[in-house]
Amino acid sequence: MNILVVGGGGREHAIICKLRENKEVETVYALPGNGGMADVAECHPIAADDVESIVRFAKEKKVDYVVVAPDDPLVKGCVDALEEEGFECFGPRANAAIIEGSKIFSKNLMKKYGIPTAAYEVFTDAQEALSYLEKSSYPTVIKADGLALGKGAVIVNTLEEAKDTVKSMMLDKQFGESGSRIVVEEFMEGPEVSVLAFTDGKTIKPMVSSMDHKRAHDNDEGLNTGGMGTVAPNPYYTNTVAEECMNKIFLPTIRAMEMEGRLFQGCLFFGLMITKDGPKVIEYNCRFGDPETQVVLPLLKSDLLTIMKATKAGNLNEVDVEFEDCHACCVIVASDGYPLKYDKGYEITIDAEVKPNVYVAGAALKDGKLVNAGGRVLGVVGKGDSLKQAIDTAYQMTEKVHFQNAYYRKDIGKRALQAEGVK
Ligand code: AMP
Ligand code: GLY
Repeated sequence: MNILVVGGGGREHAIICKLRENKEVETVYALPGNGGMADVAECHPIAADDVESIVRFAKEKKVDYVVVAPDDPLVKGCVDALEEEGFECFGPRANAAIIEGSKIFSKNLMKKYGIPTAAYEVFTDAQEALSYLEKSSYPTVIKADGLALGKGAVIVNTLEEAKDTVKSMMLDKQFGESGSRIVVEEFMEGPEVSVLAFTDGKTIKPMVSSMDHKRAHDNDEGLNTGGMGTVAPNPYYTNTVAEECMNKIFLPTIRAMEMEGRLFQGCLFFGLMITKDGPKVIEYNCRFGDPETQVVLPLLKSDLLTIMKATKAGNLNEVDVEFEDCHACCVIVASDGYPLKYDKGYEITIDAEVKPNVYVAGAALKDGKLVNAGGRVLGVVGKGDSLKQAIDTAYQMTEKVHFQNAYYRKDIGKRALQAEGVK
């Protein structure tokens, strides 16, 4: 069978490699994909949010199955458009993808159904937001309502910072219409955990937990990025926490979506904070996380395609979702300067023995050579029986990837190792 994967980053590379373990999978098309995955997918230069062209491509190639991975096309209704043409798809329809597409929707959903999250207020008027912020205590958190490339949440420490943030989001439209409505929420403290879960809308099966490292530099310093590395499982996600999350967050969320007539079918991502009052939701994503997927899917023992199909068929309760009882670590190698300014066009070489463990994101083929073309260039994934072994393996393999101005954090997994020590 032929599969079309919409998206083009390290997450999509990891999804494609896992799908390919199913012997029935023949051709995989990626839109747009990237030069670094050319050996596992036929890449075509159609943007991941160009829904019309994606549907046209799916028809032209008569694909048997479509996986829509990124948030943009999901929120824009890519799955709906493909299903209208009779294609079988993985990913939620637009009316459910709104759980990520609008922070206001998701915060109101949590309030209505008693799902633990930070207290909040919604503002559509900048003056009203500013008067509220004058009386707030700091730090506090300001979020743009809509999608903002992962940059829509700002922790502000003073009233001055709060004023600047409101101005850039609501008046200067830094994120376009995404910032015309904002959420101001309580600042929470505690370790963060990412949990991705397969759901058919009625049954929910969480994957192994993971920990992202969002800041650009060691010791969680520097600017926020799309993610500089991940480990799985996350030591803060104990069995007790997992059980509490299932009962107070995961099941209530899918039931709430069903009650609202917005059955969620696909991968639901819970960004959680383990506060002193228990786990709370920081955010929902309507898709696989990046770079969480790069550590989670390599540990999946069950067949990914079978699970994906069950999320729409509605029989996820009958399907195994089993993970290896070991650890994984992903080190993201970026272009120095990311997330601000960086150079492109340097040749990337990856030693053959580590290639199967490298998921490429920001790279392109130029005159037959692979060159860096984005901030986060690739992720190197190590596995091990212990977290320490997974981290050491990932870093050893990172030495076998070369390009000028390559930059990576040296402390991915360090906090997780420390947390294991205190358990
Ligand atoms: P979001 O875009 O909502 O995932 O937020 C991005 C990051 O900002 C999260 O991963 C947290 O580290 C931080 N963050 C978001 N909301 C809060 C909050 N209410 N309290 C503390 N940190 C937060
Ligand atoms: N790593 C967080 C995300 O995918 O949004």
